[in-house]
Formats: sequence, C-alpha cells, structure tokens
Amino acid sequence: MFKRSWLNALMIMSMVVGHAPCISQPYLNPKTPVSLRVEDLLSRMTLEEKIGQMTQTDRGALTPESDIATFYLGSLLSGGGSAPAENSAKGWADMYDRFQTIALSTRLAIPLLYGVDAVHGHNNVKGAVIFPHNIGLGATRNPELARKAAEITALEVAGTGIDWTFAPCVAVPRDERWGRTYEAFSEDPEVTALLGRAAVNGFQGDSLGVPDRILACAKHYIGDGGTLGGKDQGDTQVDEATLRRIHLPGYITAIQAGVGSVMASFNSWNGEKVHGSHKLLTGLLKNELGFKGFIVSDWAGIDQLPGDYHSDVVQSINAGLDMVMVPTDYRTFVRELLAAVNANEIPMARIDDAVRRILTVKFQLGLFERPYTNRELTAELGSAGHREVARACVRESLVLLAKKEAVLPLSHNLKRIHVAGNGADNIGNQCGGWTISWQGADTVVTAGATVVQALRAEAPGVTFTYSLDGSGAAGADLAVAVIGETPYAEGQGDRQDLHLDAGIVEPVRTMKKAGVKTVVVLLSGRPLIIDSILPYADAVVAAWLPGTEGSGIADVLFGRFPFTGKLPHSWPAAMADIPLNWGDAVYRPLYPFGYGLTGLQDPAASAAPILLGAAVEEDGRSLLLNLNKAMARTGRVSDWQVQVNRQTVKTVGVRRDR
Ligand code: GLC
Repeated sequence: MFKRSWLNALMIMSMVVGHAPCISQPYLNPKTPVSLRVEDLLSRMTLEEKIGQMTQTDRGALTPESDIATFYLGSLLSGGGSAPAENSAKGWADMYDRFQTIALSTRLAIPLLYGVDAVHGHNNVKGAVIFPHNIGLGATRNPELARKAAEITALEVAGTGIDWTFAPCVAVPRDERWGRTYEAFSEDPEVTALLGRAAVNGFQGDSLGVPDRILACAKHYIGDGGTLGGKDQGDTQVDEATLRRIHLPGYITAIQAGVGSVMASFNSWNGEKVHGSHKLLTGLLKNELGFKGFIVSDWAGIDQLPGDYHSDVVQSINAGLDMVMVPTDYRTFVRELLAAVNANEIPMARIDDAVRRILTVKFQLGLFERPYTNRELTAELGSAGHREVARACVRESLVLLAKKEAVLPLSHNLKRIHVAGNGADNIGNQCGGWTISWQGADTVVTAGATVVQALRAEAPGVTFTYSLDGSGAAGADLAVAVIGETPYAEGQGDRQDLHLDAGIVEPVRTMKKAGVKTVVVLLSGRPLIIDSILPYADAVVAAWLPGTEGSGIADVLFGRFPFTGKLPHSWPAAMADIPLNWGDAVYRPLYPFGYGLTGLQDPAASAAPILLGAAVEEDGRSLLLNLNKAMARTGRVSDWQVQVNRQTVKTVGVRRDR
C-alpha cells in the first residue's frame, strides 16, 4: 500500500509543480463524465500522441524503455513467455510500475494499458494458479465456476500490475486437428456463448472500473475455429449465415457482458483476411452489434495482408482496427501510420474514432486514478484459496468415457496402486501450452500437484508405486495410467493424426498384460483417437489439460466427488470421421457431444435414460440428450434420443464395435 500511495502522491505533486497536466483539466477530474474527459483529452492531443495510443509493443522490443515516452506508446504486452528477469509477482509488478512511470512522465500523462495472455490463470508467472484450459471448463457446463476462475485470474493478474488479458477465447473449434482447440470452450456455439459471457464478467466485473479487475478481450474475431482442415490461421470457407450461426454467438454475449476489447483473427473468411475486412470489423462488429470498445490486432496480424507494410497499415486501420499489436518494430509502424494520415489515405476521423475508443476504456478502467499496482494483491498470487477454486474446476471438468468393471471409485483400502504414464508425474504435461513459456514444456514448469502426488496425498494408507513405462505393476491391486499429449500452442499443435504415439500408450498395455486392472486418465487438448487404448482400459477418463491442481483428479478417482463432466466436443472413432460436430447430417461419434457417465454403481442407472447434455435456447426451448439404451459391453452407447421440450425429435445411432 505504501509503494502505491507514494507513487500516486508523486504523480499529484508533479501536477502541482506544473511540468505535468494540472488536476484542474477536465480529463484528469474523475468527477467529469467519461465522454467529456475523452473529448477534452482528445482535443489536446497531437497526431503523434494519437498514433502512440494506437501502438502496442512487446516489452522485449523496447530499446530503450524510454521509447514509451518518446513514441507516446499507449500499450505494451507480454507475448507468451515474455517475462521480466525476475519472473515473480513482485518482479512483474516492479516492471509494470517502472513502465507506467515512464508513460506518466509524458506531457498529457496518459497511462499505459498492459496486456498478457492470462488464458488459464496468470500463466506467464511462476507460482500462479494454473486453471484447466477452456476445453475443460467447457466440460463443466458451469458458468458460475467459469466466472469464478476468471475472477481469480483477474486478481492474480492485477496483483502484478497488469490490467488486460487477451481472453476469453470464444472460438468454436469445428475440426479438432486445430492446435488451438483447447483454448476454446466447445464445438457448440451455445456452450461457448454461455461460458464466454461468464468469463468476461469474471475478468471485468459487472462493469469496467471495478477495482482489482482487468480488461477482457474476446478473441479471435471471427471464424478462427472454422478453418478448412483445422489449419491454424487458415481460411474459413462458410456462407455468412453459417459464420453468424456458429462463430458469432460468443461475441454477442461478450458484448452483452460489456467486453472492452476484441482481438481480430489471423484467419481469412472465404479468402479475405479478417484483419483487412471492413465488412466484419466495422460493418458487423461495430455498427451492427454496437461494439463500443476497441479492436486490437493479433501479433503482427496486419503484416499478413496483401501488399507492402504501408498498405497493410492503411487497409487495416481503415477497415476498423483501433490498436495494432505491432509488436516489435514500433518505429516503422508509427512512421507509416503518420505518413498515411498526412497523405489523407486514412481520414483523421478514423484516427479520432480509434483513439476515442481506447481512451474511453482507459477512463472506464480507472487507469488515470489507479495507474499503479495494488500491492495488497501481489501476495495473493497462487494462494491456497485460489487453488481450491481451480481444484473444483478440475473435478467438474472430468468426463468418464468408459467403465467396464467396478474399478471406480478407487478404494482407500487397497494395498498397492501402480501409477504410470507420461502425464502421471509431469506438471508441464498437466498444464499444456501457454504455461510459463508460449509452447509450455514437458517438464517441471511451475509449482503444483502432479497426479501421483495428489493420489498419495488423498490415500496415505495405500502404497503407490510409480514408473514411466508401466513396469513393476505386477502384483498391484490396481493401476492408473496417466497418458497424453505433450504441450503445444497455436499452429505448432496442428495435427493430421490424432492417434496417441504407441510409446505413450505402451504403459497401458504393459500393466494390463501384467494382469492389473487399469484406469486410464487422458491428458489432452482435444478428443483423440483412442481405439488403441480401449481394449486394455477398464475405465477411461478425459481430463483435458487440468493445470496445477492434480488434486481435483484424485478427489474424483477416489469418489469424494462424482463424475459430472460432459463432452464439450463430439469424440470421433476414427480420423475419417473428422470434422465431426453435433448437428451434422451424418453423426456417428464414438461418444457424442454432451456425453458423460456418472460412474454410479447403481445397475439401474445403465437402464434409465441418463441426461447427457442440455442447452436452454434463448426462446426457452430446452434441448436434452438422453441415453435411452443400456451401455453396450464395451461401455459404448448404442443410440440415444434428442428431445426438444421433452418431445423426441431424433433418435441417433452411433458406431457399434467394429
Ligand atoms: C498470438 C495469439 C493470440 C495472443 C497474441 C499475443 O499469436 O494468436 O491469441 O493473444 O499472439 O500473445
């Protein structure tokens, strides 16, 4: 508290001595309505100062840091892994306050907005709580939990001074070959809209300016999850009605929740790059939907437009971009934008509209009044209370896909359980991409509880043995294989084949051949092809990318909490089925969208319809998925009914055992 009040006192003193703006100027008076503060400030700004507000640079590209003032930079960011030398809450807060002090030393003292990808917790910072990636939150179908996760992320981000997260990702991935599938909630627009709205509310609060909350950013507008073949930054080839039906709902509800920023997407729509589309950025988002915040580009997103860099700047700003994530060569960007305005290639009215939007958000956030870190929050990063909420998210994200025999819940009376697999004792694989570094890493990346550590803590009376490859399982009462993908982010996660490598699956076979019943826990950023696992597994649990709180998995495996998760994506039986989405004319998944067993021992449960998924439409129609046939021998559903307002409208069969 002392540090912050001292800095604020210094700021006010500098106003009094006169070399900085004086408090009597309307834009610096918090009692003045925001719209008047914006107009007053805008009227004082030079073209260079206006262009500075539209320029966002990565912290690592600042040479020297005083360029923040020299170029009147309005925003900085930390791209994935771009952290201060001291990667701690204090190290980030000190860095942020240092940059902010430079920004406030300028003639008009306009504070910086600093953005990070806090997409599953404050995932750049060591020691922060790492939540399940959004695909896991999608499996919870729990908007209150999604809101709470975002609220805690906001508190941990604010405790490091940062005031903006590039989240939530409200993409709707329609092809799981896409490497960013896990960053989104679901293949379903309604689930995406529901949880996206909740996340915006968690990050920002009920309106911008709630102390200790941060600016959210709905991304990536629009159609990022619909590209041909799931190719990252590819081309989304759909008609406008489909684009609106599938990829727009998340933005509609984010705007309803008051989201202050939207990030443009790298992808194209029918061959036109979104970053240059006036129809999409201005026509649809700003004019038709009435979005009043500002649009930021993606990382060097304008560079992908056809033509040279100058024409990229002209086309993207005229299309409706308000801030450009340059993110390194800010000098060239500033020079080209200045030249374009002076040559009347970009009207001043467009510049003023962009700057108005940016300043409005900064005033609404309270940045002019609270420009520095609230150091009272800094110590909260990674707190036990925050971790408990992440643990609940993990619990509710787990989806029980198959259960052949009564192996679940695990008993505390077992003598020995053997644990194996590449995800059993590996916090990096638990967290996935966007964790400490951009791509994440298959190692000890941060503090947290691995699955084997969590199992041991849950059942101290049981002997847990561990091996990576499954050796040593013979004689154990039971085995748990935690296997899955190794971390990736963005296009580096694009895959043409979603089978798990044989080496990763091997421990399951090894333990089964040793005569030990085996529970398989799958760590993945998307549905995978699991036909190589099913014959050996006595149960299969989809755990997605759960983050640091492996205890949530132990909680459910030992039956302290039931399985409640429901698939946020259709689960394909084979690569030939992909793309596969609920609503397809031909729909034969291994497990359908909304599927999830309860793990109940009650034999009647397998006869009575089990609600697999539900969505309530805006007009009140309820869409229910009921499993209406007993589970087949292999644990696969045979068919199920789709009911709207409890009237069966469709009975859909799925692939039987081959
Ligand atoms: C990346 C991603 C975007 C992220 C941005 C800043 O390329 O596309 O999701 O917010 O750059 O790291």
